[in-house]
Amino acid sequence: MRFRANPRSILKLEMEIIQSPHEVQKRVNHWRCEGKSIGFVPTMGALHEGHLSLARAARRDCDVVVASVFVNPTQFGTNEDLNKYPRPLERDCDLLRQCGCDLVFTPEEKDLYFQDGSGAQSWVEVEILGEVWEGTVRPGHLRGVATVVAKLFHIVRPSRAYFGEKDYQQLKVIERLARDLFFDVEIVPIETVRENDGLALSSRNAYLVSDERQAAANISRALFHGVELAKNGERDVARLRAEMQRVCGSQPLIALQYLAIVDAQTLAPLDKISDAPARILIAARVGQTRLIDNAGIN
Ligand code: PAJ
Repeated sequence: MRFRANPRSILKLEMEIIQSPHEVQKRVNHWRCEGKSIGFVPTMGALHEGHLSLARAARRDCDVVVASVFVNPTQFGTNEDLNKYPRPLERDCDLLRQCGCDLVFTPEEKDLYFQDGSGAQSWVEVEILGEVWEGTVRPGHLRGVATVVAKLFHIVRPSRAYFGEKDYQQLKVIERLARDLFFDVEIVPIETVRENDGLALSSRNAYLVSDERQAAANISRALFHGVELAKNGERDVARLRAEMQRVCGSQPLIALQYLAIVDAQTLAPLDKISDAPARILIAARVGQTRLIDNAGIN
């Protein structure tokens, strides 16, 4: 029996889940031959509204939406949370289906890193942008991110790829990588989605116990306080930093790793705020959980 339905509801029903890179390549090549624009949303799963806002933006902009769910081992340090990182794959696929996603790429480690005993040998490294801030605190992290994103871009060959401003340095590294390696893709930044008290949504928020969860809100409070002071004319970075440190310091559970005010493009630290766009970057531990956040000035 044939019936007519809303094309969007057909898309939802027909979302494909594919593990094999070669199968994904075949599928997207088919779409490219039909002249369709492909929106791509790379994730590590454990999806929340932040991720879904990327998927919805891709759905609005593009003919076809591809998401990937892959907890990429090469971007985790040896003492980091790779093993305990949440992996609710079925729920993630349901959420992506509800956002109108067409294909979810769910590779396993062997599919992207060829575990024949030789280990990963080809790496993508973005110098300078990838070496500061997160690069210092998490050596190898941004190299792992750049490497897996380059692999994913080669497999999916997106017209547009969506990244959250939540991971601001990652976004800058990916923009640079796409430019340097001539990936024919537009990188689309998406604003950070937050809880009501300002805490940026993150898959790692699930690790926070209740007093830590309350304390964590002070990270974004400090950021917004800094943005407000700058708006009201404070140009001196040392004074801005001291004010923000005071807000974080009022919560003994927050241990700052860095609090920097940087040029929004180069990520080089500033002494004075000018009229050019600047960014406040914060990384902190709240108990055992590491959180990052950022906000723009100008
Ligand atoms: P993951 O942490 O799962 O994040 C996937 C994407 O969602 C990233 O672009 C991230 O910036 C964005 N995102 C996370 N929290 C957000 C929020 N609160 N608001 C808006 N966007 C948010 O980032 C990664 O995975 C990985 O490093 C990856 C790029 C997939 C490479 O492995």
